[in-house]
Amino acid sequence: MRRDLISGLLALLIASSLMLSPIRAEEEGVADAVEEDDEYADAQRAFLVVRKFVKDDVVVQGKNVTVDIDIYNSGVSTADAVKYVDALPAEATLLEGSLTVDLGKVTVGSHVKHTYVIVFNTGATGVTLPSAKVTYIAEPDSTETAEGESTAMKLYVMTPVQQLQRYALQAGVYASLGFARTPADWRNLAILIGTVSTALGANWMVKKAKASSVNRKRAAALRELEKDE
Ligand SMILES: *[C@@H]1O[C@H](CO)[C@@H](O)[C@H](O)[C@H]1NC(C)=O
Repeated sequence: MRRDLISGLLALLIASSLMLSPIRAEEEGVADAVEEDDEYADAQRAFLVVRKFVKDDVVVQGKNVTVDIDIYNSGVSTADAVKYVDALPAEATLLEGSLTVDLGKVTVGSHVKHTYVIVFNTGATGVTLPSAKVTYIAEPDSTETAEGESTAMKLYVMTPVQQLQRYALQAGVYASLGFARTPADWRNLAILIGTVSTALGANWMVKKAKASSVNRKRAAALRELEKDE
């Protein structure tokens, strides 16, 4: 019983935070009378929440990247004729899997997963994986198609050289725990390893560095380095 409640609340949270319903958006400008109807209709409808993501938000040019899609029915009715339609950013090519899938039925409270593999042709750039579209029949005995959108995701695509720099910097941090304490030490270390050549690479480091105080010191050192350049 309690588990049901928790998963129900979770579903509600997910639905309110991740899902954008275009139908709802259109109805915003319409009078209150519609809202009552809508409430009644919502009570018997399927409601699909679509999460689209890549495990690491930093990927490497020329390397396989798996895109995961999780479709969850947080409504109270089975979704039928579920169809997923995705698109790639211009910088990416599809290697394996499909961007368009017919998923049939998704029952209440269940997840359906889909994956495909892409590769990025350019590096040293930020890329957004766009929202995918999902269409489905939300009410039993209806032919009316409902529509939803997945989440979008921002990625940073490293060049292979940037990846080497990242490894070098991480190795440097590990190797230098004993002596690199001041920004000047870090500066010398960075010059030694030949890292931190691009502003974007440094931004990425700063972003990743928020986690711990050791990392915060490194971020401060990197900012110092940027100033000096
Ligand atoms: C990348 O994907 C292609 C196509 O699915 C596959 O043939 C290849 O083995 C993959 N490479 C790696 C390193 O996983």
